Formats: sequence, C-alpha cells, structure tokens
Amino acid sequence: MAKPPTKKPAPRSVYVCQSCGAEYRKWAGQCPDCGTWNSISEQAVQTVNSRVGVAAAPLPAVSITDIDSSQAPRRSSGLPELDRVLGGGFVPGSAILIGGDPGIGKSTLLLQASQHLAADGIVLYVTGEESTQQVRLRGERIQVEHANIHLAASNDLEAILATIEEIQPATVIIDSIQTTVTSRLTSAPGTVAQVRDCAAALIQSAKQRGHAMVLVGHVTKDGSLAGPRVLEHMVDAVIYFEGDRGHAHRILRAVKNRFGPAGEIGVFEMSDAGLMGIQDASRIFLAERAVDVPGSVILACMEGTRPLLVEVQALVAPSVYATSKRSAVGLDTGRVAMLTAVLERRIGLPLGQQDVYVNVVGGARILEPAADLAVMLAIISAYQERPMPANMAAFGEVGLTGEIRPVGQPEARAREAANLGFSQLLLPKHNHARVQEANVAVTLAPDSKRAIQLKAVRNMAEAAQAGLA
Ligand code: TYD
Ligand code: MG
Repeated sequence: MAKPPTKKPAPRSVYVCQSCGAEYRKWAGQCPDCGTWNSISEQAVQTVNSRVGVAAAPLPAVSITDIDSSQAPRRSSGLPELDRVLGGGFVPGSAILIGGDPGIGKSTLLLQASQHLAADGIVLYVTGEESTQQVRLRGERIQVEHANIHLAASNDLEAILATIEEIQPATVIIDSIQTTVTSRLTSAPGTVAQVRDCAAALIQSAKQRGHAMVLVGHVTKDGSLAGPRVLEHMVDAVIYFEGDRGHAHRILRAVKNRFGPAGEIGVFEMSDAGLMGIQDASRIFLAERAVDVPGSVILACMEGTRPLLVEVQALVAPSVYATSKRSAVGLDTGRVAMLTAVLERRIGLPLGQQDVYVNVVGGARILEPAADLAVMLAIISAYQERPMPANMAAFGEVGLTGEIRPVGQPEARAREAANLGFSQLLLPKHNHARVQEANVAVTLAPDSKRAIQLKAVRNMAEAAQAGLA
C-alpha cells in the first residue's frame, strides 16, 4: 500500500536580498533578481495568524461623490525650488522619501526647510547620525533657529513613535531611515526587514495623525536607494538629491509623486550659508561654455515642466583597440551607441574606427529622446572639427532611419532658448508650426527684439546641413 505523502515541514527561515528585498528558499552568492553579489542573508520567517473561520465585518464603502475632497493646505518649505519638486509643498499626512549620496546636502536641505515649516507647527527632527549639538551648530550657521524645531537624537523606532504622540508635531523628519531600528526585530539596522518595518510604522503614524513624514534614505554605490525597493512603493513621493561633488550645484528630482508631477526638478547651489535655490538654472549649466569649438551643441531639454538649456559635448578620436568605444556621461550609453550607428548608416559618417565620447556639461542627466538631435550634431561637429553657430540651440528625437521626430512642449523650449539669447533654433519639422504660432522673440539689445529664427529639419542630412552650414 502506498504511503500517504508526508507534508514537508514549513521552512523556518528565508533568504532575503538586502538590496532589493527578493526572498528565496536557498542561499545564493548573487541575487537572481537584481544581480547584486553577497547581498542575500538568512532571516527567520514571520508567521502569520490564520484568519480561517473569522467572519470579517463589511467595509463601509462610500460613494465617491460623498467623499470630502477639500484638501488640507500644503505646507510651504520656504524654498521655492523644493516646493516645486513636491508639487507645491508638503502635503499633511503624506510620506516623502529623500535619497542621495552622503554629503550631498539632504540634512542641510531639510534643516533649512524646517525653519519655514516651524511657523505651521512643531517640526520634530530625529537624527540618528549626528548629535543634537551638531545639528544645532549647523543650524546656527545657516540661520535656522526656531523654537518650534524640536531635535532628538535617536534611532529607536518605538521611542520616536512615542515622541510623536507626545509632542504632536506637524512635520516629522527622520534622518535617516537606515539608522532607525525597531526592537520587534532582531536583525541589524539597515537590513531590509528593519527598514521596511520602521518605514511602515512611521508612514502609518503620518496617515493616522496627519503630520507630514519625511524619510531620509541613503543611496548605495550603484545609485539606487539602499534597502528594499518596496520602500519606494510605500511612500507618496520619492525625491532624489543628486549632483557632482566637483560642482557646487545640486539637483533635486521627483521620481515619483502622488501629489504632483513626477520628473520635476529643483536646482540649488551649496554655499557657506546652506543651499540656495537657483531660478535661472540654464545659466548655471551654460556658465563655462566654450564658444566656437567643435563638438559643442546647446540642447533645449525639458526637466519635468521646466525647460533647461544644457551643453552637450562630443569627442571623436581614432580607436586604439579593435572594437571602438561609445561612452556617455549624463546620457544613456545605449542610446548614444544607437545614434552613432544611425550617423554611420544614414549619413555615411565613418565612425567605425573612431571612439565616441559624449558628455552633458555640469553634471545634468538627460534621459529624454529630445536630446538625440543635439547629441548627433555634437558628434558630427566633433568629427568634422567644425563648430556649430554659437547662437544656436537644438532639440528633436531621431529615429533609426535618420528621420527627425517631433517632441513635447516645443514652445517652452524655444522660449527658454530665446530668454538666454539664442537667436537660432534647430527643431523638428513637425514642431515648426506650433513654435511659429507661439511668436517667440529674442531680445538682442535693450530696445530691440526679433523673432527667433527657426530652422525646421526632417532628417539628419538636413540637420547636418542646417547646423553646420
Ligand atoms: P549634509 O547636509 O550633511 O549631507 P547629507 O545629509 O546628504 O549627508 O551636507 C553636508 C555637506 O555640505 C558637507 O560636505 C558640508 C557642506 N555644507 C556647505 O558647504 N555649506 C553649508 O552651509 C552646510 C550646512 C554644509
Ligand atoms: Mg545627513
């Protein structure tokens, strides 16, 4: 007689990737999900109470028209660049995650915002990395002194939650989520389980009590937020603070925002007195621009709802090795390789034995396809050693057949170019009518204005002609 199959015992532990949060039954040296090495560690399985047989009470579902839609007013941070990225300020009851490399200025930014937020109620600033005295000293230097800013140095989640109950803050800042630990779990600070549990409890307190919750998150070497990706799904907005250590300016970028547009950026400059918002960001990116040198093209791009002018530079040099190199900083390398291939095939530029390097000056990161035309012109200009006209800006997407495709918001791009004194604009044919209707004028002298000169092009061959005539 066949033996009845025996039930396998349930596993007591799981193996969790500390980088992405994926769970496995077995240990592995590399996480199959995110590819990180040595990130998988063993954790005890959390047992869940069985709800079998428990009759749940029905939910009080309400008609959508009966729900109160009046919103609590947003709280301004007093920093217009930060408010814009948030979509107008901090939303009460929401949770925001701010990520960025160490030393980029996350703590400074939040301390500066506290000064203004303190006018609306208590700001609880919990620091797990510095002493309250260090924060106070920094605050003095950047003129942050408000009796409503309450500092606490702790990394104990339960103590933080108790403090929130006690002092009823309007805003809570946790600096950082990786240093916060709950005594419910035995795992070390910064592990996936700790980060996830602490964040969940903090976010829940924000939803229940209505304070704005700001979580500071560290960024790993490869540039993603340390800890589980689930953290990004738990919060209402994810903001990255990025920038080059070599440059004074910093870019704040909303990658997710439930209460405003994603992709919005804010530009700051780090000074002795803290971070200063920069309204005319294009000027920063064009500050050290070299005029009349081959390989440099001005791109009119959009960062969220904001037009931005940046300089795209290319360098073409004979390859030393058998395979030629395509490399890009501030752009997608794969896309640059593709555009290089289009140049070879469609306009016969012999780049096969040439290394191609493309760089966006000033540390900006441009991911929209509207950069294609400027990138290709920069490569052509570098290869032919002929400069583009100094007063020309360009935008447009390029397809595999070398056709130039229209892009979004061409009027805003044209206006930004005109505002900065660029009197010629190279643009896709299909964007021409819209820009022409917008009547964009360039101020050439204090009392002389002229319509921006539009050069509409249909394909790369036309663009090369128009740009490098
Ligand atoms: P910080 O806010 O501590 O960065 P994070 O919290 O992201 O790790 O940034 C500190 C850096 O900024 C540090 O290198 C010193 C510099 N800094 C200034 O240049 N000016 C200032 O006014 C302040 C407060 C900091
Ligand atoms: Mg800090």
